[in-house]
Amino acid sequence: MDLFEHQAKELFAEYGVPVPRGSLARTPEEARVIVEGFAAAGAPRVVVKAQVKTGGRGKAGGVKVADGPAEAQARAQDILGMDIKGHTVHTVLVEEASDIAQEYYLSFLLDRAARTFVSICSVQGGMEIEEVAHSNPDAVAQIPIDPLAGVDAAKAAEIVAAGRLPEEARPGAATLAERLWAVFADEDATLVEVNPLILTVDGRVVALDGKVTLDDNAAYRQDHGRFADPTAADPLEARAKAKHLNYVKLEGEVGIIGNGAGLVMSTLDVVAQAGEAFGGIRPANFLDIGGGASAEVMADGLEIVLSDTSVRSVLVNVFGGITSCDSVANGIVSALGMLAERGERVTHPIVVRLDGNNAAEARRILTDAGLTVVEQVETMDDAARRAAQLAASAQRAAAPATGA
Ligand SMILES: Nc1ncnc2c1ncn2[C@@H]1O[C@H](COP(=O)(O)OP(=O)(O)O)[C@@H](O)[C@H]1O
Ligand SMILES: [Mg+2]
Repeated sequence: MDLFEHQAKELFAEYGVPVPRGSLARTPEEARVIVEGFAAAGAPRVVVKAQVKTGGRGKAGGVKVADGPAEAQARAQDILGMDIKGHTVHTVLVEEASDIAQEYYLSFLLDRAARTFVSICSVQGGMEIEEVAHSNPDAVAQIPIDPLAGVDAAKAAEIVAAGRLPEEARPGAATLAERLWAVFADEDATLVEVNPLILTVDGRVVALDGKVTLDDNAAYRQDHGRFADPTAADPLEARAKAKHLNYVKLEGEVGIIGNGAGLVMSTLDVVAQAGEAFGGIRPANFLDIGGGASAEVMADGLEIVLSDTSVRSVLVNVFGGITSCDSVANGIVSALGMLAERGERVTHPIVVRLDGNNAAEARRILTDAGLTVVEQVETMDDAARRAAQLAASAQRAAAPATGA
């Protein structure tokens, strides 16, 4: 999960990383009120910053200086609602403007290729860091971090020296680096980036921007629910998550259920390819029901997939391994029963392809169950074609009713 800048800064502050004073505004009026407070405290100069989970906000016009409440309100008016690289701005961070002497770069991240953590530090921070890394890589130091040793005062001093920060900034930057590592390690982050890290005119080192990516695999031992962004999550994805299903909503018409991420990915490919012959029918989702495809899991999966109103047909593609096909077949039969009991009778056609361990028995179970919505197809290609064809005809049948 990526954090918004204001959330990253809240976390920084909890760990004693210096950040500018600021508050979040949802409307231009809220921005004005915030700055009235700052002005009363003798600091009317602020920066109004778009809160979107993408970089380059400054270059896109999403970071603006304002002098006083009225100007802040006007800048917030400009920025709220803006589209920055496909992200709509719903909130702005209004924070005191810092007097910047210099801008540096500092981050900690998981370097998967090098199989370790690294710190990246550079005296040439700010909005052009990518350009610097490209044209002058020597100016960007990469320091490996031993995960067991972490970052102590000596390591922090090594990092800021390697980044060639000037002497006057080093003590402050080193302290900040130690605390930033604590954020990284204790919060289970895979990235903590400060760009720019600044030296103020009066000699303080402050984190002026913050980008944090938290490792979702560690969510169970963290208290990160407070950072969830309900406006961003697709409602179906949220429901699937609550049921511990690995579901991603896509744009098409064929609901996909499979076991194993690799099989589901290739099912998406064959459906997309088969769909071309039927006017561009595409997969509607990714759903991996994993190893033990119990009736319960199958019912939850079918329920989620069928709740997607753009779904016209469903393709269940299962390769029996440790979970044998007959238990998946029984799962499908009881899932349809379960859904009927819940009052969600399934009317969409379900194409089922089962192969692998105990496939013959599985096919017999499905045939004997005599489910009218279920159609069995032997190969993956044929199943994809059939599912696409059924989706296309259901689409045509639905068209006059919707007037589309
Ligand atoms: N509180 C602030 N005071 C003064 N200048 C700021 C402040 N916040 C940002 N800036 C300036 O705006 C630039 C861009 O802001 P930043 O938060 O880094 O956004 P982004 O990286 O998305 O462009 C910074 O490099 C800095 O020069
Ligand atoms: Mg930045």
